Amino acid sequence: MQTRNLGNSDLAITPIGFGAWAIGGGDWAFGWGPQHDADSIAAIHEALECGINWIDTAAVYGLGHSEEVVAKALAGMSAERRPYVFTKCARVWDGNRQIGKCLKAESIRRECEASLQRLKVEVIDLYQVHWPEPPEDIEEGWQALQKLKQEGKVRWCGVSNFSVAQMEQVTPDGPLTSLQPPYSMLRRDIEAETLSYCQRNNIGVIVYSPMQSGLLTGAWTRERHAALPADDWRREKNKHFQEPLFTRNLRLVEVLRGIGGKHGKSPGEVSIAWTLRQPPVTAAIVGARKPGQLRQLIGAATWRLSAEELNEIEQFLAENPIS
Ligand SMILES: NC(=O)c1ccc[n+]([C@@H]2O[C@H](COP(=O)([O-])OP(=O)(O)OC[C@H]3O[C@@H](n4cnc5c(N)ncnc54)[C@H](OP(=O)(O)O)[C@@H]3O)[C@@H](O)[C@H]2O)c1
Repeated sequence: MQTRNLGNSDLAITPIGFGAWAIGGGDWAFGWGPQHDADSIAAIHEALECGINWIDTAAVYGLGHSEEVVAKALAGMSAERRPYVFTKCARVWDGNRQIGKCLKAESIRRECEASLQRLKVEVIDLYQVHWPEPPEDIEEGWQALQKLKQEGKVRWCGVSNFSVAQMEQVTPDGPLTSLQPPYSMLRRDIEAETLSYCQRNNIGVIVYSPMQSGLLTGAWTRERHAALPADDWRREKNKHFQEPLFTRNLRLVEVLRGIGGKHGKSPGEVSIAWTLRQPPVTAAIVGARKPGQLRQLIGAATWRLSAEELNEIEQFLAENPIS
């Protein structure tokens, strides 16, 4: 699979990376319901067999659990087969599993040490500030990441969910390798100015939730939504899974199914390929939680939509605006 350099780094990454949020499991504020580690590990192995060469996780996913599962999946793997491991900081939790926002230097250092231990690695390939919160501390947090880089604990530094103004605020204190923003047919904010800013400044862009956390895969029905476990965050915490948008989004999936069907591609592959059509987008982060899922999506890494197909999607989105 072809790779592209991520921003100013020497990380040559595949167009799709493995997203490890869902494998953090249920039992925390943004859990995905029950999850078996054996399935998670098999999903990671399948991703690597498909040629994917990087994993994106975060300390907060499953309150450390996702990073531990990633470590188990990579245990004993030869250096040639080992993917890059990207993780994130700035979300912390207490003994009651309550999540807090912290960008204080000492906290970031503690978080980094804990992630290195959970991941069982000596260096983190890309360390990202998960959220620019609290906003008054983003410079302190960014300086802390740069220090960790100088000390060799992290190789490259990135941010997630930052605006252009926030990226401009931190870059005087050290180079920014990448931005991780949301991007899908349902969340297009970065098209306004962020993508061109990143392109002009050689900042890599790895987009998250390209299938809107599974909603655009074609695997959703009203019955499935009604039967979601109580600890699956998609039950209540995202407007795209709620009416009236849910029905509209299921209609969009039918458009994607029609387009993909002509090429033997799934609606999920159409959704991912749609994000990769943008030259400033270096790659998409795609979540999977059991074997079989990524294999149905990997075609998006190399396949491109035609101008007519892009127009068909555009027309649906224009005629069915998100109010
Ligand atoms: N920086 C941030 O703030 C942030 C925020 C969100 C995500 N992310 C990153 O981006 C990654 C991807 O985002 P995401 O997980 O929200 O969304 P996504 O990639 O759009 O969707 C992933 C979900 O789709 C479902 N799925 C996957 N393959 C499928 C298939 N073949 N058929 C049917 N369903 C399938 C799975 O859930 P089910 O099987 O349960 O439906 C899977 O967990 C995350 O794992 C994380 O690394 C970062």
